[in-house]
Amino acid sequence: MSADVGISRGAVWKHIQALRQGGFAIDASPRKGYRLLEIPDALNAAVVTPLLAGGFGKPYHYRRSLKSTNDTAKTLAHAGAPEGTVVVAEEQTGGRGRRGRFWYSPPGGLWFSLILHPKIPPAEVNSLSLVLSLAVAEGLERLTGARPSLKWPNDVLLRGRKVGGILTEISSEADQVHFVVAGIGVNVNFTSFPPDIEPTATSLQAQTGGAVCRPRLFSAVLVSLEDNYRLWCEKGFPPFRKAYKERIDLLGKRVSAANPTGTLNGLAWDIDGDGRLVLRLPNGEETRLSTGEVTVREG
Ligand code: BTN
Repeated sequence: MSADVGISRGAVWKHIQALRQGGFAIDASPRKGYRLLEIPDALNAAVVTPLLAGGFGKPYHYRRSLKSTNDTAKTLAHAGAPEGTVVVAEEQTGGRGRRGRFWYSPPGGLWFSLILHPKIPPAEVNSLSLVLSLAVAEGLERLTGARPSLKWPNDVLLRGRKVGGILTEISSEADQVHFVVAGIGVNVNFTSFPPDIEPTATSLQAQTGGAVCRPRLFSAVLVSLEDNYRLWCEKGFPPFRKAYKERIDLLGKRVSAANPTGTLNGLAWDIDGDGRLVLRLPNGEETRLSTGEVTVREG
């Protein structure tokens, strides 16, 4: 190894010691050299960036604690941060969910925000959120083997409980988005929740029975996000429609849909080519919702 990198054996050993102190498990054998056994479960740049192959995660901003990664990402985006910039924190003290809710963000989770600069009008951002939530589900599945489902528009569920969510925020003019901040939260290595969300929330650890390697999970999710985003920029929602519909367990059910203009009851009929929920109303009319909160009605 010392010949490969052009430094002395002593210098290699010093680097190995530094890595071990940073949580890397490295085996040393007299004639064979060193072997990496395990990477630490940390999200700092030294651990995560070597695992990143694409453009997402460059630049990479890591903090131990932030109020909300979305807030920090928005500040960076206003200052001109490029597409692919990632802000990640081990914990958030004021994590935000959709509809103004608090997002529980203790250490052990995956809390990050991604800056994007799609050349689209603001209305198209809803279908982007769907495609990003599909990417999160696909990334989780690739790494853990568990199969997440989705709840329209963009909740990620495991066995019917919420394991992750997306808060998409934009800065735009009437017909052009300046930037999108996609804030993504995944409950990974912790198993207790505040009482108000305990009945409906879960984590990967709770569902898979063991700790999940967060840096590898993060890199798998970033790869899926980048793949889906590039295809969505080219072709929009249609290429994702089938895969998205296969992950939701909603169509054909009687639902209540709360959206900014009120609550509608109806039959969840379809997801259209723009990612909108097609509702059949009791009077036989059809309506399409771009966003909202859907609850399945019993009976
Ligand atoms: C939801 O309500 O389902 C969306 C949750 C989004 C949480 C993530 S965690 C990282 C980013 N920073 C925040 O404050 N919120 C998002």
